[in-house]
Amino acid sequence: MTYLNQYYPQLLSGLFCTIILCKLASFLRRRKRLRDLGCGNISHYPHKDPLLGYDLHRLIEDSKRNHLNVSLIQHLHTTYGRGKTFQALTWGLKTLYTVEPRNIQTILTSEFQSFGVESIRKAFNDPWIGAGIVMSDGPVWRNSRKILKPLFGKTLFADPYRLEHHLSRLLALIPRDGSTIDMQPLFWRLYFDAATELIVGESADSLLPDSRMDVPGFLSLMERALEGVQRRVTLAPILSFVPRDNAWTEACDKIHSFFDRYIDRALAEQKKSSQCREHATSQRNSRSTSILHELVEVSQDRRFIRDQLLSLFLPFHNASPIGIADLFFQVARAPGVWTRMREEVQSVGDVPLTFELLKSMRYIQSVIKESLRLLAPLDRILRHCSHDSVLPVGGGPSGSEPVLIQKNTLVEIRTSVLHREPSFWGPDAEDFRPERWLDHTLRPKWEFLPFGGGARNCPAQQMIMAQYALILAKFVLEFETIENRDDVLEFVDEYKFSKRSARGVQVAFT
Ligand code: HEM
Repeated sequence: MTYLNQYYPQLLSGLFCTIILCKLASFLRRRKRLRDLGCGNISHYPHKDPLLGYDLHRLIEDSKRNHLNVSLIQHLHTTYGRGKTFQALTWGLKTLYTVEPRNIQTILTSEFQSFGVESIRKAFNDPWIGAGIVMSDGPVWRNSRKILKPLFGKTLFADPYRLEHHLSRLLALIPRDGSTIDMQPLFWRLYFDAATELIVGESADSLLPDSRMDVPGFLSLMERALEGVQRRVTLAPILSFVPRDNAWTEACDKIHSFFDRYIDRALAEQKKSSQCREHATSQRNSRSTSILHELVEVSQDRRFIRDQLLSLFLPFHNASPIGIADLFFQVARAPGVWTRMREEVQSVGDVPLTFELLKSMRYIQSVIKESLRLLAPLDRILRHCSHDSVLPVGGGPSGSEPVLIQKNTLVEIRTSVLHREPSFWGPDAEDFRPERWLDHTLRPKWEFLPFGGGARNCPAQQMIMAQYALILAKFVLEFETIENRDDVLEFVDEYKFSKRSARGVQVAFT
C-alpha cells in the first residue's frame, strides 16, 4: 500500500500522458486520412457541454415545448452550417445535420448500405414493433420491402375510391350553416376508418354514430404507445436504468391483441382454404381486399405479420390525416386558392373523377405539393452510419470540400429546413404559393422529399397523392368557400411522434 502511495503521482501522470498521446495519435491519423481522401474539416456546433452535448439537447427539447422547433433547426443551419452541413453531439454521439441535396442523395442512394435505421429505431420500438419494414435493415428489410412494395402498385390498394364511402360520411358531418368546425379530429377518423379497412379488412366505422369498436379508447392507446416510444428516445442513454414503463407495455399489449385477433382469424381461414383447393381460389378472390390477407399468403408467422401491419398502420393512421389537415389549414389562410381549385374541378364537367383525371388537375396537384413542402408530416429522416463514409460537400472553410463521416455518427435530414431553402425556392420560400409549381423551370429532385427518397422511399406516395386530390375535389364541389376561424394565423407546431397543428384546423364552409 505504502509502495502504491509512493508511486501514485507518477502512475497518474503516466496515465494522463498516455491518454494525451493516444488522442494526439488519433488526431494525426484522422488528419492524414482526411488529407488522403481530399476531405475538409466539418463545422461544429459550439457546445457548452463538449462531452454529451446536453446543452443542445435541452435547447431542442425546449423548442419543442415552445412550438419553435422548426425555427430553431433552421437557425442552427444558418448559423453553423457550412455547405448546408454541420456536426453536433446527441448524448455524446456525433450527429451530422445536413440539408445539402448532394449529401442527401449520397446517403439515400449510393451509400445507402452504410446508412441504416435499425440501430436507431429498434431499440426504442421493440417489442412494440419488432422487425417490420420500417424498423429493419439488410436482408430482413429487403424481404419485407419485396413483399409489401408491390401491394401499393395494385389497383386494389392504390385506388383512391376505396376512400370514397368514408369521405361521404365525413362530408355529411360538416355543418352547412357556416359554423366553426375543427377538421383535424375528423381527418383522424377518416383515416382511421380507411386504415383499418385496408390493413385488416374491416373498417372501424368511426365516422358512423354507432361504430363497432371503442374508437376513442383505441386512439388513446395508440397515443400512449407513441408517447412511450418518444419517452424512450428522450431517455436513450439511460434507458437500461429507467424503471419499466408499465402503462406503455400495457398499451402495446392491448394493441397487439387487437391485431392478433384479426391475424389469427385470417390464418385460420387461410389454412382451411388451402386444404380445399377449389374453395381456395374463390376465397382468395373475395378475401384479397386487405394487406393482412395478402400477407397470410406469404407467411404464417403471427409476429412477422403483426410487425408489418403495425409498420403500415402507423403512418397510415398518423402521417396521412396530419398531411390533409395541414393542407386545409394552409388553404383556409390563402385567399383565392379554394376558388381556383373549384374552377379546375368544375371545368371537367360531370364525369367520374378517375385516378388519371385527378392526376391531370395541375392546380390541385400544385396545392398538395406546396402544402407538403411547407408542412411535411414526417419531416425528419434519421440514419445511423455503420461504416466510415465520405459525403460530397460540407468540409473545408467554405463547406465545398468532401467530408468524412465516421462510423457510429447519427445523421439528421430535416425536410422542413430543406423545403424552405431560399437558395433553391427563392426569397418567398416561406410563403404558401401553389402557383410556383406551375412554373416549368421548377424541377426539384433532392430538394423536395416529403415522401423520402432512394431505396427506402414511401411506398404509399402515389396512393396518398391520389387520395388527397380526391378529398380536395369532393370538398370544392360540395362547398363554395372555406374560411379560417382561428385568431392565430401562424402554424403552431406540436410534436407527438410527428408534427401537427397544436391548435387544430378551425374553419367554416359555406
Ligand atoms: C402523407 C402521408 C405520408 C407521408 C408524408 C409519408 C412519408 C414517408 C417518408 C418521409 C418516408 C421515408 C422515411 C425514411 O426514409 O426514414 C416514408 C417511408 C415509409 N412509408 Fe410513408 N408516408 C405517408 C403515408 C404512408 C402510408 C399511408 C403508408 C402505408 C400504408 C406508408 C408506409 C411507409 C413505409 C412502409 C415506409 C418505409 C419504407 C422502407 O423503409 O422501405 N406511408 N414515408
